[in-house]
Amino acid sequence: MTRSEVFDYLIRGAEVVDGTGAPRYEADIAIAGGRIARIGDLSGARAREEIDARGLTATPGFIDAHTHDDRAMLSDGDMAPKVSQGVTTVIGGNCGISLAPMPQPARAPVPPLDLLDAGGQWFRYARFADYLDALRAQPAATNCAMLVGHTTLRVIEMDDVGRPARAAEIARMRARVDEALQEGAIGVSTGLAYAPSAAATTEEVIEVCRPLSGRQGLYCTHMRDEGDSVMASLEETFRIGRELGVPVVISHHKVVGAANRGRSAQTLARIREQMGRQPVCLDCYPYNASSTILSHDLVDGAARVIVTWSKAMPQFAGRDLDEVARELGCPLAQAVDRLQPAGAIYFRMDEEDVRRILRFDETMIGSDGLPHDEKPHPRLWGTFPRVLGHYGRGLGLFALEQAVHKMTGLTAARFGLAGRGELREGAHADVVLLDAGEVADRATFAQPVAPSIGIHAVWTNGQPVWREGRSTGARPGQVLRRVPR
Ligand code: ZN
Ligand code: CU
Repeated sequence: MTRSEVFDYLIRGAEVVDGTGAPRYEADIAIAGGRIARIGDLSGARAREEIDARGLTATPGFIDAHTHDDRAMLSDGDMAPKVSQGVTTVIGGNCGISLAPMPQPARAPVPPLDLLDAGGQWFRYARFADYLDALRAQPAATNCAMLVGHTTLRVIEMDDVGRPARAAEIARMRARVDEALQEGAIGVSTGLAYAPSAAATTEEVIEVCRPLSGRQGLYCTHMRDEGDSVMASLEETFRIGRELGVPVVISHHKVVGAANRGRSAQTLARIREQMGRQPVCLDCYPYNASSTILSHDLVDGAARVIVTWSKAMPQFAGRDLDEVARELGCPLAQAVDRLQPAGAIYFRMDEEDVRRILRFDETMIGSDGLPHDEKPHPRLWGTFPRVLGHYGRGLGLFALEQAVHKMTGLTAARFGLAGRGELREGAHADVVLLDAGEVADRATFAQPVAPSIGIHAVWTNGQPVWREGRSTGARPGQVLRRVPR
């Protein structure tokens, strides 16, 4: 360090949890020019601003491995639900759903594309490049890395999504994938559980995703089935990865339905075994309820259902479906129809399965939050502090170092986000300063919109984005590309 050097920020006396899983240590951290300039004993150094971090923990900014923030980054760029948790990078375009490419004029979005925008006016980017350009022209508070969605491609290239794609349609979708990858997409996502993609065969997916092989893209999937046929879905996912020669990401891994309680022991054993043969990754969120569009199939298997939004009857957002049906004086199934288009939360997982998957050393943390729901699943605001507080500190599922690794270093390595996910000299300055004894989620199913506690300050690319319980207004987010290791 030269004597004249003045850093932007100096975080003094923090306990450093560096994201690699290594034991914590005490040090000062200097931030300059968007990077971590120094870590160590910096008693002689000066900065524009010094932060007394004694008693606090510094970690890398969290990477949300699974989001639907594609539109939120543009329409709500302060990204308060995310930066308030310490998230500085989001992976978007998941579950087969991406805003782009969408030839103009766009038609009204079919479910589940309407999860991004029920109105449809945000489906305004003809090419994937146009979408990424918009993100660069008007950055959000978080960085992002984006997938292109197979369901979006089916909707734009097929006249009838209720059947497998024909050769010409596959060729057009494949060309779209190739183009999106060239323009900066990090891979393809599928949502084979959803109606517009359920008719796609495994072969269709493989052929559409061919360009991933040459361009080292990722294949991320909301699998065809997470219930009775979850093992077959795993095999399908492995086969797609094997035939393409690319890593697969099993999104929001879970097992659903009363008959499948405890089967995560079986799925994780199979995943572990296959990891010895091909690259397999997985993520999950720390709740035993899922959330997506309101549909008959999902209502049938759930112990309880909460309406998260309804275009037809917005007044029922936040209410139990049982109550709604009673109030409407109709059977449950009819209430489902009358609320459409709509979204819901489904209680259909076993808590022990959730814990087993969370604890699995290869599991990354991804919120799957739905930022445009009227009464969203609490995972949108609470996921990361809930892993650190409730599951880590409270239930002792993992040490702080491991919990942080699952949301930083592990995720950066799996997604190929160079210079992210670790606190080390030269890395990008995505940093969280938190109180490890206090950090906790506050969002609940009854009151889902609530910032967590214990997150003191958050920097994205060296700029504070969250301080003293509020967004700073800074929007230093960058569009990241995948750099496979
Ligand atoms: Zn999904
Ligand atoms: Cu999702």
